[in-house]
Amino acid sequence: MDRRPHVLIARDDIENTVVRLASEICADYQGRHPLLIGILKGSFVFLADLIRHLDLPLELDFVTLASYGSGRKSSGKVRAVQGLRTDIRGKDVLVIEDIVDTGLTISFLLDGLRRLKPASLRLCSLTDKPSCHRVPVSIDYLGFSLPDKFVIGYGLDFNEEFRYLPDICVLEESE
Ligand code: IMP
Ligand code: MG
Repeated sequence: MDRRPHVLIARDDIENTVVRLASEICADYQGRHPLLIGILKGSFVFLADLIRHLDLPLELDFVTLASYGSGRKSSGKVRAVQGLRTDIRGKDVLVIEDIVDTGLTISFLLDGLRRLKPASLRLCSLTDKPSCHRVPVSIDYLGFSLPDKFVIGYGLDFNEEFRYLPDICVLEESE
């Protein structure tokens, strides 16, 4: 049995969507100086592409969160691995995520950030699997809604592999 990446969202579609999200964000944050917080590791490719289309003065920080061990199913438990270095009090915070699946990871982070009293707190996620949510999540800037399939590429991994693929793919089993 062989497992091959099969393209679900091609690089050109991703690029057009990144440009669309950047223009929505630029329009909403005119005259402000947002702090973008990328969730590592998965969002690093998306964040790197997104910020180069944002014509705004901005700051960046990162957090590492983990809910998945290895494999495809969420453990349902989220643990903070590495925290923020920036004081977010009074700042316009925009969290950048690669994918929302059960929503547990992002809810955990947003709840924690809200307690630190930012001036505003919004979420931008490249992808979402709405049929998998286990808690309500509201995504202010969304790229793509996905079916309940495990995806890889464009920063997303399966057991730390495939992050380098330029397209968003599913792993298909073939003989
Ligand atoms: P959640 O807590 O179930 O919403 O899971 C969110 C995290 O799980 C994401 O930030 C990803 O790191 C990972 N994840 C969820 N679904 C996928 C997928 O289809 N491919 C790769 N990683 C995923
Ligand atoms: Mg992630």
